[in-house]
Amino acid sequence: MDVKTFIEDKVREIKDTVGSAGAISALSGGVDSSACTVLAHRALGSQLKVIFIDDGLMRESEPQEVAAVFAGLGITVEILDAQQEFFGALKGKLDPEDKRKAFRQVFYEVFGKAVKKGKCRFLIQGTIAADIIETKGGVKTQHNILEQIGINPEKGFGFKVVEPIKELFKPDVRRVAKELGLPESVYRRMPFPGPGLMARVVGDVTPDRVALVRRATRIVEDEIRRHKPFQAFAVLLSDKGTGVEAGKRKFGEIIIIRSVESKDAMTARASRVRWGRLQKMAARITAEIPSVTRVCYELTGKPPATIEYI
Ligand code: XMP
Repeated sequence: MDVKTFIEDKVREIKDTVGSAGAISALSGGVDSSACTVLAHRALGSQLKVIFIDDGLMRESEPQEVAAVFAGLGITVEILDAQQEFFGALKGKLDPEDKRKAFRQVFYEVFGKAVKKGKCRFLIQGTIAADIIETKGGVKTQHNILEQIGINPEKGFGFKVVEPIKELFKPDVRRVAKELGLPESVYRRMPFPGPGLMARVVGDVTPDRVALVRRATRIVEDEIRRHKPFQAFAVLLSDKGTGVEAGKRKFGEIIIIRSVESKDAMTARASRVRWGRLQKMAARITAEIPSVTRVCYELTGKPPATIEYI
């Protein structure tokens, strides 16, 4: 793929499709939506509104960090607080696909309201080829797939969807993002799922349980930074495990450390993380999050596992 030509073509396509109708770009700060946002901004300039939904499922300081990166590129990001809507919809949901569908519903309802308020007609989003293949193939419902599975976004939510990079896989998206002038922290960023930390909380997704996995994720990311895996994170299980504290039994949370190597997320293998680093992560997680009694390292590749836990 010639990256420069791809960018020129897509900028022209976005201009032709949106015209003067106004559009919102759905930005999460990941490489996919960031590349799309810059493409759309080149095409539409001030006609484009960029919205980051704060769903309460992001990592530490993520909304503010993403807004700061885009401010550096001269693009204003509106952070829309929708935490209550997401936690409300996820309350009591335990089945992974129920959780994913509830997330998708709220995600598009929130954007539907924003599109209406902004008197726009289009939502621009960073769907990539892997998202479509995994949803259509029945692996899991990705948060951003509608038309490809027969849901009409205009009927359901009041906007048309534009997906400028839907034929690309991750390595090409990174090339496009680099060429668009995004900083290395974005074009080399680890993938983070659209449904955020929800994909890493097995069982009930409550603000407290998300906060716990957020703290553990921070520790894993801190400790593994130099190793640069494709993806590394923490997962909170729904079961608990017996531990011991000051000579007394303690029934605590179980955290899984997951680190994988992959090219395009379609297949993956567990990273060979140094033993000392793993031990340090486990020690920090149990010391800094006292409700955790056990930390495990996941060895399974994809297949038969998937990268995320739900
Ligand atoms: P799995 O868990 O299916 O994940 O092996 C493959 C890649 O996709 C990311 N992922 C998502 N990305 N919306 C996204 O935008 C989603 O709903 C979603 N679920 C998983 C995951 O982090 C991995 O990189």
